[in-house]
Amino acid sequence: MDIEELSSVAVLGAGIMGSGIAQIFAQTGFEVWLYSRTEETLQNAIKKIEHNQETLVANNALSPETAREALRRISTTTDLVEAVDGVDLVNENLPEQLELKQEVFENLGEISLPETLLTTDTSGLSITEIAERTSHPGRVAGMHWWNPPHIVPLVEIVRGESTTDQTVKTLYTLLEKLGKKPVVVKKDVPGFIGNRLQSAIFREILYLLENEVAEPEDIDVVMKYGPGFRYSAIGPVQTMDLAGLDTVVSVSDYLFKEHDRSTKPNRLLKKLVKEGKLGAKTGSGLYEYTEEALARIIRERDEKFIQVLRNNREDQEH
Ligand SMILES: NC(=O)c1ccc[n+]([C@@H]2O[C@H](COP(=O)([O-])OP(=O)(O)OC[C@H]3O[C@@H](n4cnc5c(N)ncnc54)[C@H](O)[C@@H]3O)[C@@H](O)[C@H]2O)c1
Repeated sequence: MDIEELSSVAVLGAGIMGSGIAQIFAQTGFEVWLYSRTEETLQNAIKKIEHNQETLVANNALSPETAREALRRISTTTDLVEAVDGVDLVNENLPEQLELKQEVFENLGEISLPETLLTTDTSGLSITEIAERTSHPGRVAGMHWWNPPHIVPLVEIVRGESTTDQTVKTLYTLLEKLGKKPVVVKKDVPGFIGNRLQSAIFREILYLLENEVAEPEDIDVVMKYGPGFRYSAIGPVQTMDLAGLDTVVSVSDYLFKEHDRSTKPNRLLKKLVKEGKLGAKTGSGLYEYTEEALARIIRERDEKFIQVLRNNREDQEH
């Protein structure tokens, strides 16, 4: 399907990711069907979109008219057939369970038009396996967003073994139209690119915390003001070139063998989860949160993201 022909999308799942993704499609002019199992989740998703838009409008990143028009373009439903009927594109954001996604993609193969592009926001499951029982699997691809999806630019397009070049090309152009920064992941490897990198960082951080090398606050400072600061300007691949590959070899020689090599979830994390400390959503995790503090953290995070986006756009214009 040609990019100009794409005008409607079904977003499946209305949780953390589905709500923000529905928002960004609607703000770009797409007719959106937002699907979830219950009316309550759908109503909460619309409230979340309104809240997201308020922050964008307050920071002059969205006009009130565009926000209102976008909301009018979003229809909600608890009926999958109604959501998918005649749409050009589907983006699935249901829970991260392979069996559930396989069932849904098998069903989508039957209830969607044969040319409808079918995409999954899985964080790292195999696209090939998700598409295994779908008719016309060439139109299935990973479309992996980053939270909060209405702000973070990166979206990974992940090729399954059957994904066609045309599917990848159309999704790439589409994501650029949505104002996103698409990247093509050429092979269907677990975790794709972003989550492989992030997971390696998490494993090392948890090792440092478990061994009381530093406080959580200080580890966050190191990342935000050191590597993270640098990576927002030049990526880690180029960082190696600038450091000198001979130096990278020397450091790797003594440091690689020191890295954590666990192949199971970290013990400290499992202990916290067992105690019901699941992070922000339970008020306690690696940090402690009050409701007010959490609302402030999210608001300030989104405002910083918007500022970074604005700076990036200004840089590109000069
Ligand atoms: N949360 C993140 O940071 C993030 C980032 C990128 C990708 N993802 C991926 O996106 C997907 C969704 O994650 P999320 O964090 O939005 O999850 P979530 O739990 O917030 O939302 C899931 C949604 O699916 C609905 N749902 C659950 N079971 C269902 C079923 N059987 N049929 C229909 N609807 C059902 C829920 O009501 C909810 O609306 C996952 O595959 C996840 O790995 C998440």
